[in-house]
Amino acid sequence: MDLTLLDKIYDPEQFREQGHQLVDLLANHLTAAQQASGKTIDYKTPEIEKKFWEQYPKNQDFQTLAKDIMERSIHIHNPKYMGHQVAPANPLNALTALLSGLFNNGSAVYEMGMSNTAMEYLVTEQLCLQLGYDKDARGYFTSGGTLANLTALLAARSVQVSSGVWEHGHDKPLAIMVSEEAHYCVDRAARIMGLGDQGIIKVPATNKYIMDTNALEAAYKEASAKGLEVFAIVGSAPSTATGMIDPLDKIAAFAAQHKLWFHVDAAHGGAAIYSKKYGKDLRGIAMADSVAIDGHKMMMMPSLTTALLFKNGAHSYKTFSQKADYLLSHSEHEDWYNMAKRTFECTKNMMSIHWYTLLNQYGTSGFDAFVTHLYDMGKVFANLVSERPNFELALAPQTNIVCFRYVANGLDSLALNSLNEHLRTALVARGDFYIVQTKLRGTHYLRVTIMNPKTTEDHMKSLLIELETLALTHIKSTTVPLV
Ligand SMILES: Cc1ncc(COP(=O)(O)O)c(C=O)c1O
Repeated sequence: MDLTLLDKIYDPEQFREQGHQLVDLLANHLTAAQQASGKTIDYKTPEIEKKFWEQYPKNQDFQTLAKDIMERSIHIHNPKYMGHQVAPANPLNALTALLSGLFNNGSAVYEMGMSNTAMEYLVTEQLCLQLGYDKDARGYFTSGGTLANLTALLAARSVQVSSGVWEHGHDKPLAIMVSEEAHYCVDRAARIMGLGDQGIIKVPATNKYIMDTNALEAAYKEASAKGLEVFAIVGSAPSTATGMIDPLDKIAAFAAQHKLWFHVDAAHGGAAIYSKKYGKDLRGIAMADSVAIDGHKMMMMPSLTTALLFKNGAHSYKTFSQKADYLLSHSEHEDWYNMAKRTFECTKNMMSIHWYTLLNQYGTSGFDAFVTHLYDMGKVFANLVSERPNFELALAPQTNIVCFRYVANGLDSLALNSLNEHLRTALVARGDFYIVQTKLRGTHYLRVTIMNPKTTEDHMKSLLIELETLALTHIKSTTVPLV
């Protein structure tokens, strides 16, 4: 047994030296990235990337290894990053992530994470009150919006379906209702739960890509006539592709009328509960039975950290058990501090320390500033798009997600689709900007999410100019069919 090797691996002085150097490296990266110097992505194909790491020198000096990882990763802190809905992690929380990494207090049981367990209680309590819940509400943190949505639907089924699915399995076909525009993880959660095709009732969306609540009653009746027991309805705040928020108040009223569990997937936009300006767009959220909010999207935190909040705290104890260990009656003792009884995970990261630290240092104002500014910038980008004759918006944005496309006279819809697809590929290949794309009802759109508070109007203008240049070059160089 090579104990000297283990001594080396655990050497505190090596950690100190490498850590100091790494923080310097990261701080220098942050300065450069924020000034938009260098590429946002130096794209390599998966095969080239795999080969690079296969052939990587053994025993590489750690700083070189770290630099190579950094160079070969997307630079989310570059203000020209306007792609997926992942936050540029705030540096303070990069440090709390380091703390979590080293301490590894998994918090499945209280002793394995005393501080973070207590923080988890306090932060989720604050989130519940901010949402408009009362003191009987409870929540916890879980690893991502996908898992939070699955857990919420498991809780819904446990609470709503009287046969006791946890113990006896399904005795009749069950179903949930969700907009056709919802994130795919809701569909996946329902399938994991054994609901199958027929158990996922896709409610059509309006021309604003929000759930068409006028279609709810007919869809519900049709499902009931087929013998399905609908137990939950899911609203998105907002949905992923377009960033549009379902009419939560109307869905809440429908859920109350039919005694359905109402879950809000607010993975992206739940942070707006802190926004003085945009909080009103979440009208109705306080009537939801459960709400999922990602910290690593619109709350500036490192991945993954998601809050799952329950209006009736007792329900948060019923997901993985038919009887709630604690029913929130004041005579019983609440076992809030043994987190794994309520979460899917056994061990999890010390997620709550990110939230608690931010609240401790900046109060709720930091959250308000972040989400409000980025939603404002979504509108700024949309205005710039509207001002340019060669671009059109899919629709006026409600959040920081904007879908738009390049248009040119004489090109039919197929040619425009392939032109816009090409633009996104060409842009990523150049690497200074990073944006994504989506298909809405057969039309190919470019899609930006303004995630970075350092992204300015000038960066946005340069993006549009670069897209115009790429489009003109492409149109000249190809024989795109003219109509
Ligand atoms: C509306 C919505 N729900 C859920 C998710 C999945 O969240 P996560 O990536 O944290 O699992 C996303 C991710 O983009 C989302 O936009």
